[in-house]
Amino acid sequence: SIYSISAVILAYLCGSIPTAVWLGQAFYGIDVREYGSGNAGATNTFRVLGTKAGLAVMIIDIAKGFTATKLAYFIGMSVTGPHNSSQFVNYELALGVTAVMGHLFPVFAGFRGGKGVATLLGMILAVNFPAAMLCVLVFVVTLLLTKYVSLSSICAGFTFPLGIIFVLHSTIKSEVLYSMVVCILVLVTHQKNLERLLKGKESKVYLFKKKTS
Ligand code: G3P
Repeated sequence: SIYSISAVILAYLCGSIPTAVWLGQAFYGIDVREYGSGNAGATNTFRVLGTKAGLAVMIIDIAKGFTATKLAYFIGMSVTGPHNSSQFVNYELALGVTAVMGHLFPVFAGFRGGKGVATLLGMILAVNFPAAMLCVLVFVVTLLLTKYVSLSSICAGFTFPLGIIFVLHSTIKSEVLYSMVVCILVLVTHQKNLERLLKGKESKVYLFKKKTS
């Protein structure tokens, strides 16, 4: 329907908002993609522009995923005939992943975006709050132990399907399926990071103390 098509387009446009690029250009006069890892995300913004900018990008990118996912209400309203909660979750996940595609390939920034971790978290928060908490927990613990944001993202990516299946025992098929897709997506977007991690060349992120060398 026209509602579904509009919601998908809106979700893509929402995800396409290149927060890291625009914020860097507007307040610091630089494109973060020219520095650090070259990624247009919260982590690289933190790395290049500092805590305040990194946090702002993180919050806005989470909000993009959350908002796009909740556009499912828009489709839900327009659907006639029977619809149940698992069908609603279908819409939510499809729109959330569409927003993540926007974040990865933003129409507003030459299709060179980020890796979608914050936007994915926004989606998971909207769809399954306990699963999101499990992912955040694993992310934070991994980050505190290793100081690698990329590795934390990858571990959180694995936590999503494992948590959905083995901890939360979800019976919603699309949720199980999408959680696996998300895990694979995180692995794909972090290929360069994985290579650097294996070579011991990945940059660490220090949240509480200054890097000394
Ligand atoms: O959020 C993306 C993070 O997992 C890695 O970012 O800039 O270190 O490649 P970055």
